[in-house]
Amino acid sequence: MSEDSLSEIFKAETESKVLRNQSLSEDEIVSLLMSEEPRDVNWLYDLADRVRARFMGDAVFLRGIIEFSNYCRKNCFYCGIRRDNRRLKRYRMTVDEIVRTAIEMEPLGITTVVLQSGEDMRFNRDLTGELIRRIKAETDLAVTLSLGERNRETYEYWRDCGTDRYLIRFETSNRDVFRALHPDDDYDKRLNCIRNLKDLGVQTGSGFMIGLPGTTIEDIAHDILLCRELNLDMIGIGPFIPHPDTPLSQVGKRPGLEFCLRVLAVTRLVNPDAHIPATTAFDAHPHKGGRQLALQRGANVFMPNMTPQKYRQSYQLYPGKACVDEGGAQCAYCTQWRIDILGRTIGEGPGHTIKLQKF
Ligand code: 5AD
Ligand code: SF4
Ligand code: FES
Repeated sequence: MSEDSLSEIFKAETESKVLRNQSLSEDEIVSLLMSEEPRDVNWLYDLADRVRARFMGDAVFLRGIIEFSNYCRKNCFYCGIRRDNRRLKRYRMTVDEIVRTAIEMEPLGITTVVLQSGEDMRFNRDLTGELIRRIKAETDLAVTLSLGERNRETYEYWRDCGTDRYLIRFETSNRDVFRALHPDDDYDKRLNCIRNLKDLGVQTGSGFMIGLPGTTIEDIAHDILLCRELNLDMIGIGPFIPHPDTPLSQVGKRPGLEFCLRVLAVTRLVNPDAHIPATTAFDAHPHKGGRQLALQRGANVFMPNMTPQKYRQSYQLYPGKACVDEGGAQCAYCTQWRIDILGRTIGEGPGHTIKLQKF
């Protein structure tokens, strides 16, 4: 055995802790992330899959995502739809168009709609409220929003309109890196948004990117521990992928798929009862098949893209995004097939948080 391999005692202790929903230490997390010995990696993946099955079950919950506007007031350094990217056709769907797209999801077995956009101020408190109310009135879908930073009062109003869940990533727990990459944002303000949403009783999702320039493996351990500390209902993570029309275009180094899958697996060990999606970035070129692997290494949620075909090209936060050439219900059918061949089932009902003690 090489010096870097994990001891049997370490593995047994880790297993016993995570199956009792006990946290791991920063050092333990770093050891897991660094282990590359095939025997150890296979053990880690298997444990993550068992923890997922034990706490979340075998059903994969579907969240149909509609990327309804690519206007954004912000200039995050990593993002392809940042305000200063002029090489992009901007679009904004109408409320009617979004509602129609949401209605099409239900017959496909999708029980949650995720409404995502840049921070588009045209979709202000009231217009977004109207959109939420209409979807709640015209469908049985659970509604998840992913619209960025707003004040507590707005989140509260959207909750009262019928919002079930909200996604807003903290992106990195390294304050210096956060500051360097977010000219418009403040780390404490971001965490405050997350805490406000939790406090308002909205099921809250957050998460981070893997491999942002300037971050270390210890930062990733902190990111994973912060997810646990925030008691998140959902955790979305994925690799950082440099976009050619952003200030980070020259970043050559990209985290490998295997490393990202280890991060995902450890995220599951430390957060056994959170919903964790196999995010689209796991499938970004050239990593075909990454989402499928993610579902076998801790993830229990899949987000078929339901954005109308004509807009998909213009909603690429990173290049090489999967499903840009597909359209209509194609992703929904593909998703059913993906889950089928894994021998898993599609989740029935809304797939709310299982952290029931909060309700
Ligand atoms: N690579 C990977 N993920 C990205 N996101 C934004 N830009 C990129 C990129 N270049 C992620 C951010 C954001 C989410 C919606 O997309 O984490 O919160
Ligand atoms: Fe806008 Fe979000 Fe992209 Fe930042 S990450 S530029 S807030 S869409
Ligand atoms: Fe979009 Fe397969 S999930 S085509």
